[in-house]
Amino acid sequence: MSQPNRRISGFKPTGPLQLGNYVGAIRPLVEGQHAHPTVAFIADLHALTVPHDPERLRELSMQVAGLLLASGIDPGQTILYRQSDLPAHAELHYLLECSATYGEVHRMIQFKEKGGGSGTRLSLLTYPVLMAADILLHDIAEVPVGRDQRQHVELTRDLALRFNERYGPVFTVPRAVHPPVAARLGDLATPTAKMGKTNASAAGVLFLLDPPDVLRRKIMRAVTDGGTEVAYDPERKPGVSNLIDLISACTGDEAERIAERHATYGGLKATAADAVIALLEPIQRRYRELSPADIEQTLQEGAERARERPDATVRRVRHALGLTSGRRAPAGSPARPATATASR
Ligand code: TYM
Repeated sequence: MSQPNRRISGFKPTGPLQLGNYVGAIRPLVEGQHAHPTVAFIADLHALTVPHDPERLRELSMQVAGLLLASGIDPGQTILYRQSDLPAHAELHYLLECSATYGEVHRMIQFKEKGGGSGTRLSLLTYPVLMAADILLHDIAEVPVGRDQRQHVELTRDLALRFNERYGPVFTVPRAVHPPVAARLGDLATPTAKMGKTNASAAGVLFLLDPPDVLRRKIMRAVTDGGTEVAYDPERKPGVSNLIDLISACTGDEAERIAERHATYGGLKATAADAVIALLEPIQRRYRELSPADIEQTLQEGAERARERPDATVRRVRHALGLTSGRRAPAGSPARPATATASR
């Protein structure tokens, strides 16, 4: 049942992808896809947890898929699909909700940050359970994500362990893996906040499709700290340290070396701008070469390849929960009509 090193990560199409998504999750997936069986998906059901425009969602889903491909996700190697194309996600979501408690989802940080009022969608409260379903469907060992998603993967572990204990060994128990640098890249205008695709202001967010001059302008205007010394000290110098992390994430150079090589904040920012532009230009070029028809075809083929394992997982879960008769219906055969079963 379990694949010791299978990986998955998902991307919510609520806004255009930004550099934090790339360094926190996309690049680790790309770099690991030859060593690990890998699944990447567009988490479009998750985008319904907040007010959305259907046309924009369609557009963003395609853009996210295109950027994953342009970033190096190889569809011959990695299964890439759109979450809503596989009904198993929604089904396992409900079945897992029947093991999860209000208390444990209510204290998730992201709900506390975004939710609260009486107009909040219920799905925002239960969305970490959908994320658990996404992961558990695929018998996953490792989930490469940014630090902000760690709590959700911990919840996934708790749910899997509890389910296995109550109903038998059905789920593989996954763990989160984070990149060594920039596991939580800061917003350039508010370095103590996470860079995010839906941040109120775009001034501190480096979108993967921002033109080079826009990237450079945003970086040159990044908020720095008091004093003039370039030093890596995330506590005392969050702005400068965030820029150093940014350079380190782009070039692979060590934070201390980067700090040593720069005498001024201006010089550090110029290096950061060069590094980000050099990283993103080839991705932007590859993105422009992709056609929507090719992206759509890749997603549909991905959904077909992805289907088997999630369907098998849901069958195991249904059986463990007592939702089946206990007799094994041959794979693919229609369910026996209730009346026929009752007359036996
Ligand atoms: P999402 O779409 O907000 O972000 C996608 C990935 O990017 C990472 N990330 C960051 N990493 C470092 N620094 C940042 N500033 C930064 N901003 C974002 C996120 O940690 C994430 O890995 N709930 C998830 C999507 C999801 C998912 C899943 C992920 C749904 N189901 C199953 C993994 C497995 C989300 O909202 O990610």
